[in-house]
Amino acid sequence: MAMRHSTIIGTGFYVPPNVVTNDDLARIMDTSDAWITERTGIKQRYIADEGTGAADLGKIAAERALADAGLTNQDIDLIIFATLNPDVFFPGSACILQSKMPFGTIPALDIRQQCTGFIYAVAIADAFIRMGAYSKVLVIGAEVHSTGLDFTTRGRDVAVLFGDGAGAVVMTPTENENEGVLGFALHAQGEHWDKLYLPAPYGSVRGRITHEMIDRGEHYPKMDGRAVFKHAVPRFCETINEVLAKTGYKIEDVDLFIPHQANDRITKMVGKQMRLPDEKVVSNIARYGNTTAATIPICICESRQDGRLKKGSLLLCAAFGSGFTWGSMLMRWSI
Ligand code: ACO
Repeated sequence: MAMRHSTIIGTGFYVPPNVVTNDDLARIMDTSDAWITERTGIKQRYIADEGTGAADLGKIAAERALADAGLTNQDIDLIIFATLNPDVFFPGSACILQSKMPFGTIPALDIRQQCTGFIYAVAIADAFIRMGAYSKVLVIGAEVHSTGLDFTTRGRDVAVLFGDGAGAVVMTPTENENEGVLGFALHAQGEHWDKLYLPAPYGSVRGRITHEMIDRGEHYPKMDGRAVFKHAVPRFCETINEVLAKTGYKIEDVDLFIPHQANDRITKMVGKQMRLPDEKVVSNIARYGNTTAATIPICICESRQDGRLKKGSLLLCAAFGSGFTWGSMLMRWSI
């Protein structure tokens, strides 16, 4: 018997207009286009104007996804917002989004799974849709990293990696077993939370943020880049094998692989280890940097635009990031 599950019926993305190249960064910190390109594959990233938050970028991506789906705000019955850069400490950016776009009083929730945020968000939406609780779910991944990065030589190891952006999808039920979400594999390993994290403001410290913390730069993200790199490649490969085993597909069946874009060297190593030909592996990190929860929906939109992702394609997505969190999803593309 056909089972109710979910499929994506609309997609949209938005990046702010300001392009910052590696050479621009080299003018304000001790770095170079050669170092960044060789280590990461990044050539430029987009940066939001001051006063723009994740919900502002998410709103434009959401409007585009709704238009693509042929729906309006009023059709949506659940919002899931993935970001590591909420507009304010609380409430979540899904609620801030509701203040910018009329959605009535539908539930709105944020999730905090960093680079794996979009995959976790789609999995949550799929579960709600399968149980019949909601039937038109707006899933957003949006990040304004630029306001929280240390653009001096002290912060160069992290600041050069990230860019701002947003992507959104609209999900609905389907009973057609030949389309939509086929399966997920989700993981987290919290023992590594401090390999990539933002210390201040500290929930456990009275006052939460002090002048001394700011002087020490504790309000900027800290990363053990080598540890992240070392864990990322095996976890990517494991989660891909897990979702393929769960769904009964083989790697040769995959038409398009969209990995989270953290570093082009990671993407290339995963593609090679999984024996995926280059033409099946999406890489856009050169133009956007790491846009975290926005990366996969941005890649999905661009892959639709350039014709690599089409109705019937078997799409594999995988991500790894801070937490550590990682995961994958397999879907039969239906639009
Ligand atoms: N420009 C120039 N030099 C730099 C820069 C920079 N931007 N950043 C660091 N360096 C220097 C370091 O100080 C170091 O100098 P030293 O040898 O004199 O001490 C040297 O370059 C080498 O530094 P490493 O950290 O060893 O460089 P590595 O080859 O490991 O590359 C990188 C660093 C690119 C960060 C890499 O480790 C990496 O990509 N790791 C994965 C990071 C990642 O994916 N993060 C996102 C996770 S997703 C999420 O959840 C948000």
